[in-house]
Amino acid sequence: MKFFIKNFFLPQEKTDCLIIGIFKYFELTISADILNKYSNGYIHSLMSKGDIDGDIGSNLLLYDVPNIISKRILLVGCGEKKHFSLCSIEQIIKSSIKILNKSSIHNVVFSLTELNICNDSLYWFFRKIIGSIKKEIFNINTFLKKDIYLNTISFNITDEKFISLAEKGLKHSLAIDLGLTAAKKLSNLPPNICNPLYLSLKAKKLSKKYKDNISVTSIDMNEMENLGMNAYLAVGNGSKNKPYMSVIQYSGFNAINKKPIVLIGKGLTFDSGGISIKPSKNMHEMKYDMCGAASVYGILIVAAELNLPLNIIGILAGCENMPGGHSFRPGDVLHTMSGKTVEVLNTDAEGRLVLCDVLTYVERFSPDIVIDIATLTGACVVALGHYVTGLFSNNEDLVNDLEKAAVQTDDKIWQLPLFKEYEKDINSNIANFSNVGNNGAGAITAACFLSKFSKKYHWAHLDIAGTAWESGINKGSTGRPVELLCQFLLNKSKY
Ligand code: BES
Ligand code: MN
Ligand code: ZN
Repeated sequence: MKFFIKNFFLPQEKTDCLIIGIFKYFELTISADILNKYSNGYIHSLMSKGDIDGDIGSNLLLYDVPNIISKRILLVGCGEKKHFSLCSIEQIIKSSIKILNKSSIHNVVFSLTELNICNDSLYWFFRKIIGSIKKEIFNINTFLKKDIYLNTISFNITDEKFISLAEKGLKHSLAIDLGLTAAKKLSNLPPNICNPLYLSLKAKKLSKKYKDNISVTSIDMNEMENLGMNAYLAVGNGSKNKPYMSVIQYSGFNAINKKPIVLIGKGLTFDSGGISIKPSKNMHEMKYDMCGAASVYGILIVAAELNLPLNIIGILAGCENMPGGHSFRPGDVLHTMSGKTVEVLNTDAEGRLVLCDVLTYVERFSPDIVIDIATLTGACVVALGHYVTGLFSNNEDLVNDLEKAAVQTDDKIWQLPLFKEYEKDINSNIANFSNVGNNGAGAITAACFLSKFSKKYHWAHLDIAGTAWESGINKGSTGRPVELLCQFLLNKSKY
């Protein structure tokens, strides 16, 4: 699929279809007005006959419009002019793409930018449009199992001075889409294919594709033993698929941060619960317990595609949690890499055991910021549902930066507290901590556990248990929070 941005003269543009916005109450957009004039009032006459009312998402496909070279014009309803916002775009794009995806329509010109009432956000207008187009195409490919016939999409920019802003939006969107799609595809793989070794091989391939600025090392069981990562190892013990931790080092040209930003993704390629086995209903969804790792994988692709001037380290913490004769058990006491001991009360609280050793491991990079991304607790789904990711942090500036990026991308997060009262919930009388609390607030006690291992740097934890995938007939990974964290990195890069 090719994208172009240009200042077109619409009536004489030779294309399969022009896509033009129509507001409610007979209000024409600038483009609609031009075409209406050239066609001697044709569009206006259709509207007055009531064939299109401008309701958001409504549309009408016109052929052989007088004096217009384009083979077709698609009128799309944009709702009331005064209520138009970036949120309207997804609906408009969704309904347009459905109509446009006919085998004989290959190239189209969208002329919608004038809908963007305030010009300085044309960048965001493009981010939203391209993101929506890509999302719709992904859904048609995956859920309807249909091909996309459209191969060239052009955008008309009515004012040439905004072309560079639009192009920046296009460039960023396409890179983010690449990472988002890669993350979704990886997350959607079945767990008999996507195991910890598979994750590490995917990571390795990044260093082949992005030779100049990505290098990858894979830490296997032996090395973990040497490092003393006994909590991580304990979780992997019950599985035939051995754990692998991938360390993806991205070194941007002219990086503005000496101390790296570290992103850690929980990569449980399957979480059966282990000896504390989960109920069988919906257990298949625990193949998504590696969505955190997949998002880190996707984010590094975006960083490399955009050549972000940053130093970033991405960790895919691959592991499988299975019951068996070699499994760790409730009652075990684990000696973590940090030196602290943990009493295992539930082998299903495995994510924090893997992550605590990774949080210690990354100290060697003297990071400025560490963000872990994990499908960590069912309790977070209870607290925030499926729309909002849980945020925990030990640093207010980091919280502000993440919240800013979340608002910009509409990839929503909400901060939950780490008050010291919660600390006693993970006390143990035989070890430094226990791996579960039993006093409610499960998302918080899990984060509280992680906070014990992340004192040496600014740290944030994103609990994506409710937001990483969707269930039901259109089940699949959402790719969250790839866009949020890419935006966070773009802001850091001062792009
Ligand atoms: N991967 C799960 C969390 C999860 C559960 C995510 C359901 C999405 C949907 C995690 O490893 C887990 O099992 N957590 C337990 C912790 C409990 C044993 C303290 C949970 O949430 O039930
Ligand atoms: Mn679990
Ligand atoms: Zn898990």
